[in-house]
Amino acid sequence: MQNLLVTGGCGYIGSHTALLLLEKGYTVYIIDSNCNSNPFVINKLKKIIMKKDKQLAKNLIFFKGDLRKKKDIERIFEYSKHNNKIIEAVVHLAGFKSVNESMKYPLMYWDSNLIGTINLLKVMQKYLCYNLIFSSSATIYSCLENKLIDENFPIKPINPYGNTKRCIETLLEDIYKSEKAKWKIINLRYFNPIGAHHSGDIGEDPNGIPNNLFPLILQVASSKLRELKIFGNNWDTRDGTCIRDYIHILDLANAHIAAFEYLSKTKSQIINFNIGTGKGTSVLELINTFKNVNKIKLPYSFTSRREGDQKYIVADNSRALSTLNWKPLKSLEDMCRDGWKWQLKNPNGYIDN
Ligand code: UFG
Repeated sequence: MQNLLVTGGCGYIGSHTALLLLEKGYTVYIIDSNCNSNPFVINKLKKIIMKKDKQLAKNLIFFKGDLRKKKDIERIFEYSKHNNKIIEAVVHLAGFKSVNESMKYPLMYWDSNLIGTINLLKVMQKYLCYNLIFSSSATIYSCLENKLIDENFPIKPINPYGNTKRCIETLLEDIYKSEKAKWKIINLRYFNPIGAHHSGDIGEDPNGIPNNLFPLILQVASSKLRELKIFGNNWDTRDGTCIRDYIHILDLANAHIAAFEYLSKTKSQIINFNIGTGKGTSVLELINTFKNVNKIKLPYSFTSRREGDQKYIVADNSRALSTLNWKPLKSLEDMCRDGWKWQLKNPNGYIDN
């Protein structure tokens, strides 16, 4: 397989994944509505890839489109067919991803994430494309203890965003069962991706004030926000703050390449993989590492716990390590250094460029 479609390819995870696929010589089609991302990412990707090999930039083909419109998806499959570079696999990342927003606007989340996926699957069937890597999330797990989470942990999301992810996984299970000989489906359950490409040219560019810890750290470090509010210092953890499994965005993007290469050579199946480092880091530990690596001040104070937070979410990543040709290579220091480089080079995200 040589030609892939990346839905949501202008987003944070999509852009890094598309870049690595291009670097490997694959043809990458991107569909993105840009409702939560910036089309300028495409130029950035081309710029980075051209430094490596001018020819490779031609393998990036962007279509602006919305998965809720089946015609938009058909257009890109039709184009790929006419150009004799038919899409053989899909990395499906498009969708809304904010927990807070999903609690305010559940219909928007169900509409975009579910309807978008259903349309995509219909079009894939129409064009006989049966290879799919789906971006799922650790948010679907319920973990009450300080225990590593493996793929068989109870699935019990507590917000509409997580519910859409779980529901899509169920849908994919049904699709697989209906045509077991054809479908190859991988659900990648992401833990907490942070950082940026080491060039500092692409990174996370949230709309407005971010909700997630790392983009907030970047904003406080660059004095856009006065201080960071840490949600709780009385959790049952080593320093009282919550623990997460932060993974460098390039390690996470690489997991897609490994998953795709695994799909290419394996039998039809549906399989789930946790994509994390297996190492837990507390909020305070992340803040201190960021301060030390970048030699910068990061004011913070403690506030009450955030509704729905869980104290400890860390991957047991052994299935991914033993099955995929993949392991995370980057340290927490790398994540902090590369994230800061992106912020310094692009203080206002993609807007300035
Ligand atoms: N935190 C703060 N202050 C803030 C923001 C976050 O203390 O202003 C803390 C949270 O309490 C949590 C940690 O930082 O302990 C990480 O919070 P994030 O919001 O960055 O990430 P979450 O782990 O809560 O959730 C994220 C994504 C989900 C995804 C999940 C996977 O938002 O979409 O990781 O584990 F599903």
